Amino acid sequence: MKEPTYLRPLRWLTISIFLVMLVVYRLTENYLNRNLSTGWATFLSVTFSLIGIAILLILVFRLIYGQIWKLTLSQKKHEETAGLFKKSKDELEEKNIVITQKMNELKTLDRISRAMSSTMDLDRILNTILEGVAKHLNFDRAIICLVNEKQGFIEGRQAMGVAGELLSDLKIPLADGQNPIVKTVKDGRPYIIARVGEGGMHLQEPVSHQVRRLGSTQEESKAEVNSPPIYQGGTTSSQERTYGEIFAGLEGKVNAMASVPLVAKERVNGVLLVDNLHSGRPIEEEDLRSLVTFTNQAGLAIENARLYDTEKRFSEELRHQVELAKKELKEAQAHLIHSERLAAVGEMSVIVAHEVRNPMSSIRSCAQRIHKAVEEKDPNKKYTNYIMQEVDRLERIVKDMLTVTRQPKPNLVEENVNRVIEEILLHMDDEIRKSGTVLTKELDQNLPAILIDPALLKQVILNMIQNALIFMQDREKKELKIATGQDKRFLQIRISDTGPGIPAHNRKKVFEPFFSTKPQGTGLGLAICQRIILAHKGKIELESEMDKGTTFIVSLPMKRTRKKEEEKGLEG
Ligand SMILES: Nc1ncnc2c1ncn2[C@@H]1O[C@H](COP(=O)(O)OP(=O)(O)OP(=O)(O)O)[C@@H](O)[C@H]1O
Ligand SMILES: [Mg+2]
Repeated sequence: MKEPTYLRPLRWLTISIFLVMLVVYRLTENYLNRNLSTGWATFLSVTFSLIGIAILLILVFRLIYGQIWKLTLSQKKHEETAGLFKKSKDELEEKNIVITQKMNELKTLDRISRAMSSTMDLDRILNTILEGVAKHLNFDRAIICLVNEKQGFIEGRQAMGVAGELLSDLKIPLADGQNPIVKTVKDGRPYIIARVGEGGMHLQEPVSHQVRRLGSTQEESKAEVNSPPIYQGGTTSSQERTYGEIFAGLEGKVNAMASVPLVAKERVNGVLLVDNLHSGRPIEEEDLRSLVTFTNQAGLAIENARLYDTEKRFSEELRHQVELAKKELKEAQAHLIHSERLAAVGEMSVIVAHEVRNPMSSIRSCAQRIHKAVEEKDPNKKYTNYIMQEVDRLERIVKDMLTVTRQPKPNLVEENVNRVIEEILLHMDDEIRKSGTVLTKELDQNLPAILIDPALLKQVILNMIQNALIFMQDREKKELKIATGQDKRFLQIRISDTGPGIPAHNRKKVFEPFFSTKPQGTGLGLAICQRIILAHKGKIELESEMDKGTTFIVSLPMKRTRKKEEEKGLEG
């Protein structure tokens, strides 16, 4: 076993004392033995030895005591230093926790801001904001209100933990200056709304809040922070009840709700309202600080999304306009080609009509004379009849050619379209019955009288019915349906048959002059119809299914009044 170190000096001390005692004893004994009796000499030598030892011990103990005192002092100092060290260690740990929290907060903010900037969809951005407020900033409920400057309102746009209908009720006029949410927008800084409920809402500026008001200097904002204004005025607007409902149950709770502006480019574009309804946790300064850092990012993301949305809508509108212009150009081009062709036909037909009409009337009058002179029983009588019929047909063709080339000028009168249809059907009743066609009428009895040229409209309907009858000739099922109806802008006439249908590639061509699939057809019927309806500012469309039938739809404008037409005529 090893000897403890403190025993070594003790051992030496004991040996030294013993030796000193021995030396003193020997010296004094020798000296005293010579002068005194042995008893006295021994007594005195022992006494001197003891006094020597005592002096020696006092000296030694003083030395030891001094050392112990020094040791105690340094231990005290050591303890003090250790205390200080522990204190600073605790402080460091606390700071470390705060820094870690801040780091986490920053990381979260960074994650949220990256999530926000990854999309330009406003709704998705607002959802990300609400998620961030709930998950990372630990608020129970949140509402995002956006400023609608055009309409002068702040509107509830998206919420978390608040019923949808209450959110849609949240519409605050920007003019309501006493409203705490309007104040948040106008002042561009956050507020704590201390009490919400029946007694109204009271604003309280967060103490020592270092958020700079938009446009104010740093000195001003410092002054504001040191002596924050407290707003006592409750809301007096009609919206008060609605807030009361939304923030029900918050009465009496301090720091009940925070209203933080969503700022971007020195402009407030919305407000974030948060509270802790369920947990009842008060909103601390630290919460507000995090909220402000967060809403700065959120405000920018919202602004960007809004700008993107406006730009997108603008470019969509532009694209739409371009498409429309392209379509109009195409139509105008087609119309031009059509008109040019018509103009050429027109020129030709005027010449032909002029050249042909006189010889034709001579032929007809000669044929008529011969017809009269020829006996009834004479077999030649049928030829003179035939000559007259063909001349009539030629006359009709020439007339049609002139109609198709000249712009028809409708003589407009207020008339009920149903009446015009009934009149035509009265004339055609025989023809329809003889062809074995079943006629169905579905006439809207509430049709108003509109401005039309009844004679020209008759020509259109007649042409279409005749086409239907001709094209249904060889069909087993022969059904003709005439219907009328109306919507806001147009009155519609629908003429449907159960004929062979028109192939898709011919559906546009049928309105071109001289297009005909009939062996004896001139191909002018629908071209004339088209021109007449265009002169009425209407349109003709067709729906057709092969082997099922065709429907022609004639649309005439409803809102044309005689007065307007007359005014137009005068202007023209
Ligand atoms: N109801 C219909 N069913 C099927 N095809 C039709 C119908 N109406 C018109 N068409 C088609 O449209 C073409 C043009 O018709 P349009 O009335 O202009 O001339 P057409 O009837 O041929 O001759 P015209 O009327 O001068 O005797 C017809 O030849 C036919 O091909
Ligand atoms: Mg025809």
